[in-house]
Amino acid sequence: MIALPPMPLILRLVVLLSVALAAAAPAAELPRIVSKNGKHAMMVDGEPFLMLTGQVNNSSNYPSALPKVWPVIRQLHANTVQVPIAWEQVETVEGRFDFSFIDALVREARENDVRLILLWFGTWKNTGPNYTPEWVKTDTRRFPRMKTAEGKTHYVLTPHSRATLEADKRAFVRLMEHVRRIDPQHTVIMIQPQNEVGSYGLTRDRSAEAERLFAGQVPSALARLKGKNGTWTQVFGAFADQAFTSWHMARYIDELAAAGKAVKNLPMYCNAALGDPFDAKSASTSATGGPQWNMIDVWKAAAPNVDFVSPDIYNRDAKAYAAYLDHYSRPDNPLFVAETGNAADYARFFWAALGKAAIGFAPFGMDATGYSNYPLGAKTLDSETIEAFGSKYRLFRPIQRHWARIASTSPVWGAAKGADAADQSADLGRWRVTAMFELWEFGERDWTWIKTDPHPTKGQPVGGMAVAQIGPDEFLVAGSDVRVRFGLAEPGAGENSMMVRVEEGSFAPDGKWVMARVLNGDQTDYGLNFTTEPRLLKVKLGTYR
Ligand code: DGJ
Repeated sequence: MIALPPMPLILRLVVLLSVALAAAAPAAELPRIVSKNGKHAMMVDGEPFLMLTGQVNNSSNYPSALPKVWPVIRQLHANTVQVPIAWEQVETVEGRFDFSFIDALVREARENDVRLILLWFGTWKNTGPNYTPEWVKTDTRRFPRMKTAEGKTHYVLTPHSRATLEADKRAFVRLMEHVRRIDPQHTVIMIQPQNEVGSYGLTRDRSAEAERLFAGQVPSALARLKGKNGTWTQVFGAFADQAFTSWHMARYIDELAAAGKAVKNLPMYCNAALGDPFDAKSASTSATGGPQWNMIDVWKAAAPNVDFVSPDIYNRDAKAYAAYLDHYSRPDNPLFVAETGNAADYARFFWAALGKAAIGFAPFGMDATGYSNYPLGAKTLDSETIEAFGSKYRLFRPIQRHWARIASTSPVWGAAKGADAADQSADLGRWRVTAMFELWEFGERDWTWIKTDPHPTKGQPVGGMAVAQIGPDEFLVAGSDVRVRFGLAEPGAGENSMMVRVEEGSFAPDGKWVMARVLNGDQTDYGLNFTTEPRLLKVKLGTYR
């Protein structure tokens, strides 16, 4: 029964009716990953959602740190924030759970109109056990660590321990139960079970139990994958240790993910500490066992409950960055740049990620707690640095759902300026799109008749663009510090290309394109020139003879 204060009958009816309607309203749709024809969308509230994310610093997982988080997140124009939840903080005493931080976090996230991705720092955080509760990290008998061939104890908790898995799983399930209880509207849209798992300095556990497993046959899923039966060494050769540890860590996390999903079926992903993107052998000894780019197939086979694996990219080299994006954007794996450096030079890779149909992007260390992880990220997170990312998010936040919908169904491509500032091109349908850098808005690169100063972005690590092909001859283009040109990939005899119409604009909330103005004349004579403030254009192309 609902007790209502005295009021006219009609008002009473209205109140009762709205209460009844609210009770009957279907629960908000669960976030999920939808994959179709090798393309992907993260669905939030039943619609595609581009995760314009910022990740807070590691120790910002306490209510006292949150006031230092939100101002940066607002300046960033992020719509999603990744925040750690540490096993040590929720189960300081075994069997006693405290989720008060999550309550504060979810409440404040709603006030700030952002969604959350929770990072479960449990058995493995950057491979180590530092975030496990004291009763775990001090009890190596109950929670064994990997052993070296000499019988020495390695720092990493072994994935071959049922006791550790059960203890972690129990806490993780309690976390998911809490999320289910307090978050019917799904402010929390995704979970990352563990963080950068693997092992440095030891490629596999040499304990008696691990040796026994290693001497056995590979699981049938891997035999199928490789088209070959046999021991780990027979099937994986030089990569046997890496495959073995990857399989067992992925199976461990899969069990955790399955148990968590049984409580609340949110998307779950795992992030990778990356090795050399061009050299699998060298990558195999970097955070061995994690979802390294050369082990994605093994992870897929081992962890069907992990929706995707993600790169943490802290490599400023544009070629390496592009290689990582390539490795992790696959028909069976949506690309989410789960972490990247927060220094300004990383911001241009947002464009390259969009060009690989990324479902999200996340600079790391986005809060004002004053910590800097330089040389990975920025020396100081000043306003200018935040703005390097924020300017891009500002353009995309209002249109993120439309972009995400388009990118999950249409061809896209993107580019970020490389070290040589060379032109970059790709063919989409019959059109060749070219990104050019360090050019003034007016004029051609080969003009010699007029003296020109070097462009202010010369030598600067800025500039990039992304295009989506929305029709055979129609494109959406966004970029900053870049010139974009369209031409025919293979012009027929006497065939010329032209820009029929270029509109600057945006999408209305209902998804309709709203033109602000038509660009023409100087604004299109030398290609589409984007300055530092990103813009969105709709371009219609055509040909004439
Ligand atoms: C990658 C890890 O996933 C993060 O938690 C953090 O430790 C960064 N490296 C370095 O700041």
